[in-house]
Amino acid sequence: MTKFAVLASGRGSNFVAITDAIQNGKIPNSQLIGLLTHNENAGAIKEAEQRKIPTFVVRTPGADRHAYEIALEKHLDELAPDYICLAGYMRLLNKRLIERWDTKILNIHPSLLPSFPGLHGRRQALEHGVRWTGCTVHFVNENLDDGPILGQSVIEIMPGESEETLETKMLPLEHMLYVQVLKDLVSKKFRIEGRKVVWENHPKK
Ligand code: GRF
Repeated sequence: MTKFAVLASGRGSNFVAITDAIQNGKIPNSQLIGLLTHNENAGAIKEAEQRKIPTFVVRTPGADRHAYEIALEKHLDELAPDYICLAGYMRLLNKRLIERWDTKILNIHPSLLPSFPGLHGRRQALEHGVRWTGCTVHFVNENLDDGPILGQSVIEIMPGESEETLETKMLPLEHMLYVQVLKDLVSKKFRIEGRKVVWENHPKK
């Protein structure tokens, strides 16, 4: 059984897609064991309640980042997921946590990395006038939106496209991509070669 935890800060549509895929058996032999968030108003919390997923709101006094990180690590240690999926998680993880969970933390980013890392990936694509953009699921390393790429989906940018229309087109692709990558992770072996993820052809035993 592969155990997943999700870290989300907001709406939670990717969290919903992952949870529903697991609960509907589309990602075999897997379990969603918890939603963690720093935002007590995150839409993802309501979605988790409806789906009976345990939610952990990591509250820390004031804006004490260090205390938050310690509390988050403690929750993750106790939950002991196999993989941690960032899904609209708007905080940076510290180096120690990233090293400890090397190739166990995934993120989804709304651009074709390595183009347009950081905030507003869709807006950056529109500002640059690129014809094609998309979304990327990658492992998290110590640099922002930089780790080995697990999967990508591509979208054509049409004339008159706005950030909103692009988001409407992209979100369903993000959901499908994240689910597909998790399915691959539970069923296939991979190795990291330099900056790359190389999927092995034979199934995981
Ligand atoms: C998505 O666009 C994702 O690519 C980005 O944050 C957004 C999260 O949306 N990292 P949601 O909370 O999953 O609906």
